[in-house]
Formats: sequence, C-alpha cells, structure tokens
Amino acid sequence: MTYEQLQARLRHDAALVESALTTRAAQFDSLSLLANNEQLAALKEAQDYSLMAGGKRIRPALVLEVCAVLGGECTCALPFACAVEMIHTYSLIHDDLPCMDNDDLRRGKPTSHKVFGEATAILAGDGLLTDAFGVAASHADEKKALLATRTLAAAAGSIGMVGGQMMDMRGECERYSLATLLQLHARKTGALICAAAQLGAIAAGYEPQHKEWQAITTYAQCIGLAFQVVDDILDVTADPTLLGKSKGKDTAENKTTFLTYYTVDEAREYARQLTERAIAAIEQIDQQGILCALANYLAERVF
Ligand code: IPE
Ligand code: IPE
Ligand code: MG
Ligand code: MG
Ligand code: MG
Repeated sequence: MTYEQLQARLRHDAALVESALTTRAAQFDSLSLLANNEQLAALKEAQDYSLMAGGKRIRPALVLEVCAVLGGECTCALPFACAVEMIHTYSLIHDDLPCMDNDDLRRGKPTSHKVFGEATAILAGDGLLTDAFGVAASHADEKKALLATRTLAAAAGSIGMVGGQMMDMRGECERYSLATLLQLHARKTGALICAAAQLGAIAAGYEPQHKEWQAITTYAQCIGLAFQVVDDILDVTADPTLLGKSKGKDTAENKTTFLTYYTVDEAREYARQLTERAIAAIEQIDQQGILCALANYLAERVF
C-alpha cells in the first residue's frame, strides 16, 4: 500500500470515528441529558472541545484496520474505536494539567484547563474515561464487549497507562535505567496502542488463544514503543507549527526520555528496528499491506 493510499484510509477511518464520537456511539440518550442541563452541558462542552479538536486518530484507526485485516466488519469495531479515542483524549487532558506536564497547547489549541479551568478539565477527563467503558460495554455482542472492556481496563489502568504516567512523573526526580525507561514507555503509551489492536481483533471474533492474537500483539507492542520513541524525538526536533503542542517540554520538565540515552539519529534507528520487528510479526496476515504501511508511517511521522 502506498503512502497516499494509507493517508486516504486514515482520513476515512477518522471521519467514521469522529461521526460516531459526536454521539459517543450508543450513548446518545445520556448525551442529550447532558445537553439539556446547563451545568452538565458545560461538562459536555469541555469534553467535545478536546475530543473533536482533531488529533491523528491513530489508535481508533488501528482498531478498525486490525478488525478489517482479520476479516471483520468495520462497523462492528466502531464502539471499541470510540472508547479507545475517549480514553486517549482523557489521558491528554490530564497529562497537560499544571500538576502533570503543565502544557498550554494541545492539538493546536489552548489546553483544556487553560480554557475551562482545572476542575472542569479534571472532570471532563474523568467523564470521558468512565463513559468510554460504557461505550465499549454497549457492543451488541456481549462476549466481545466483556473481553474488550477487560482488555481496555488492564491497558488504561494502574498496571498500564496510569502506572506509566506515575513512572513518568517520578522520572523527573530520578534518572531511570534504560530498562526501566522501556517499561515506562510500554506502560504509558504502548499499553493503550496494544489494546487498540487487540480490540480490533476482538471485534473480528478473535481471542487470546488464537495465533493471530499473538502476531497482532507483537506488532502493536513494537509500534507502541516506537511511537513513544518518535514522540520523544519530536519533542526536540519537530516544527512547532505542525506539532500542535509545545516543544522542548521533556527537557524543561527534566524527564528521562529516549534522548537521555540515545542521540536523535540513534533513536530514529531504534524506531526503525522496532518497526521492522512489527512488520515481521504481521506480514503473513496483512494481505493488503495496510498494517505494514501504518507502522512505516508512524516511524517516519513529523508530528
Ligand atoms: C500523544 O499522542 C501522546 C502520546 C502518547 C505520545 P498522539 O501523538 O497520538 O496525539 P494526538 O491524538 O495525535 O493528538
Ligand atoms: C503522554 O506522554 C502519555 C499519556 C498521555 C498517557 P507525553 O507527556 O510524552 O505526551 P505529550 O508529549 O505531552 O503529547
Ligand atoms: Mg506526560
Ligand atoms: Mg505531556
Ligand atoms: Mg511527549
């Protein structure tokens, strides 16, 4: 698959997910309750501000494309794709708070707490996180819904993304070893990316005992780690007008990142090796080359 074909697919996936996100998949009734109450409408406004602000929509695209590669119907994966993007967006709102990374810019706009205040930003994130589980659990197939919500909870929770954020925060005062940094990145970024791919597999009818599950998991673990390696590189090298978030934050906050251990060129080479490992894991099942193209694009991205 060419770069242009991949970009067209990603745009198509993003449009599907954004349309489903406007109603939070099956949560339409609760959303109209929100809209009809002045105070709750303010909560919804803050949630929509971050959720509909763009973003690359990589995680929901991964849900949809893994489902498609494994022969599933895209619509069957949509509630899971929405849930993953809602959790990702909540994590960004909280990551930007003054007590966390203290960022002013996100997805090209002022951060949630800058616009709505800290308390509303926290609650907007809390709501998105909790509602995401409602959306995933609303999947018409209850067996798939149960496996997906369990998978998502493990990835987003204390041993996954939240645990990774805790490690990241403590890394401001402590120099981690490279092995600990790898674990940190696998949790804070890798876990949700891995869950996105697994949710695509679940939507297509696959479970952990299937051999395709392991192939998809290895692929996603490698691109998930590469994703954070590239994020660390972009914090130093990116064009700020493309990035949509502030540059140089990791150094300013004294974080342990990949660039603590590697030069930019070495880190890029590491991301490439991870990408090759990802591709090797799924080449056999990725008939149209979409997951291979996605892995290559993520390693080469400039924002
Ligand atoms: C940023 O994620 C946070 C990390 C986990 C590195 P993305 O780079 O996917 O952010 P959006 O969704 O495109 O804004
Ligand atoms: C954020 O990592 C990871 C999560 C939100 C869980 P970063 O702090 O590196 O993300 P950016 O660079 O602010 O997007
Ligand atoms: Mg952070
Ligand atoms: Mg941050
Ligand atoms: Mg970063």
